Amino acid sequence: MSRKIGRNDPCWCKSGRKYKACHQAFDEKIERIREAGHIVPDHDMIKTKDQIEKIKESAKINVAVLDYISEQIKEGMSTEEIDRMVYEKTTRMGGYPATLHYQDFPKSSCTSLNHQVCHGIPSERDILKEGDILNVDISTRLDGYYSDSSRMFCIGEVSPEKKKLVEVARECIDVGLKEVKPWGFLGDMGQAIHDYAYAHGYTVVREIGGHGVGLEFHEDPWVSYNSKRGTEMLMVPGMIFTIEPMINMGRAEIYIDDKDGWTVYTQDGMPSAQWEVQVLVTDDGYEIISY
Ligand code: MF3
Ligand code: CO
Repeated sequence: MSRKIGRNDPCWCKSGRKYKACHQAFDEKIERIREAGHIVPDHDMIKTKDQIEKIKESAKINVAVLDYISEQIKEGMSTEEIDRMVYEKTTRMGGYPATLHYQDFPKSSCTSLNHQVCHGIPSERDILKEGDILNVDISTRLDGYYSDSSRMFCIGEVSPEKKKLVEVARECIDVGLKEVKPWGFLGDMGQAIHDYAYAHGYTVVREIGGHGVGLEFHEDPWVSYNSKRGTEMLMVPGMIFTIEPMINMGRAEIYIDDKDGWTVYTQDGMPSAQWEVQVLVTDDGYEIISY
């Protein structure tokens, strides 16, 4: 419960305007939705204009790193080489890879190959070969502000089945983005993605989801892609979160490698694909921050 703000006090959003002329009606609307039984965001999940600008600066680096990897990636390269390029490019642009030393994660990126679902650790031993599908997940910290997005890469000629999986995982992002608008619910987006993936015969990982991001690497809310329309957290302008569903060709079940403590695999050994977009809820829809 936050302290009650007086009508003539400065607004919590740091606009410099009085509360009554700024977010008071907005807060009252949220309060009515809470009273109707919904989950609603706290003020600290709503970014100010200034914070959004700084997060966008961080995201410029994140996107540039992904673009650079897109140009460089090729058969015969190790995922360790990719990781080195990520570190070099990020730091040369003044940023720092957010995964490096995060909860003891040892590398500057996550590289997840074929039946690895996510959080793969780059390694000299993982050499890209024709037919592989690879997720490269990049996150950047700049002046304390965070960005996070990932893309899939097909190495050489890939089987039609894997190619389709990568395409549908990509389309899931568009399907989800269409549902991002103020006064909607995260479950609108979650169900849309779930239904789209299942309509193509795929499954969606349940245990791992997206997250708020910007002032921290991982913030509330946690974002599911197995949720139901009209449920989960209310979306309001200023929220920033990721859409990053993990789409499996086979069953949804996963396990974590108990030797490295990080790499997530599909239990049935079938391939998995994931794209990740960082998105801002705006007054009339959404804006892509990093992709
Ligand atoms: N970009 C990944 C995510 O948010 C990073 C996971 S944390 C790590 O899902 F330590 F595994 F890198
Ligand atoms: Co993420």
